[in-house]
Amino acid sequence: MHDASALMEGAGSMDVATIHSEILSVMERMVDTSENPHVQRFRSGFEGVRNTWRDVGSGHLPTAALLDSIRIDAGTLPGRLVALVSKHRKHLLWEQTYRKEDDVVGEDLLAGYGFSEVTGKRGPYVSERLRSGIGIWAPHVKYPLHWHDSEEIYWVLSGSARFQVGRDEPASLKKAGDVVFMPSAVPHAFWTAREPFVVFYLWQGGDLRQVSEFESRIG
Ligand SMILES: [Fe+2]
Repeated sequence: MHDASALMEGAGSMDVATIHSEILSVMERMVDTSENPHVQRFRSGFEGVRNTWRDVGSGHLPTAALLDSIRIDAGTLPGRLVALVSKHRKHLLWEQTYRKEDDVVGEDLLAGYGFSEVTGKRGPYVSERLRSGIGIWAPHVKYPLHWHDSEEIYWVLSGSARFQVGRDEPASLKKAGDVVFMPSAVPHAFWTAREPFVVFYLWQGGDLRQVSEFESRIG
């Protein structure tokens, strides 16, 4: 591990393999040191994954530019992770799962979300067991009630959102540093607040590239 100043200062000329390696290192450290029992169950998914790296190229989404203006507390591991991703966002591959023609999510969400995978079926660290990466949402978007077979964790890195986990459960506010656990097949939704919302996400179990089920189609 490097200290925060090394992460912040030494990264200007990093190649993409080194950038991914630094990001993976902070993720591993977060998971290794977490006292959250749900997070601890994801630890074994990182074993051996470092040896699977491949170059997946880069890809831009407008949403990723929101990383330029977010609040970062580099004194914490979540802050260090988001600082790294922000600094190197142009070298990362940003993706979306949903398309307009699927009619399952609103245009606010489509225009205002993206993710960059770190481990998973498509890499850069290839894994059939653990899908992980960084997700970002614009302010004031709704991610409607949906579910999937994989169990999921959102570890909030910046911003806040109201989360609903369970079809009839009340929503509660989650902010930087909070961990949200979504059990397999349990419906969940969230609404972002007035700042960009950035999470470290983790999936395991089930098909790691399953497209979520939604309660209803829009439009
Ligand atoms: Fe989910």
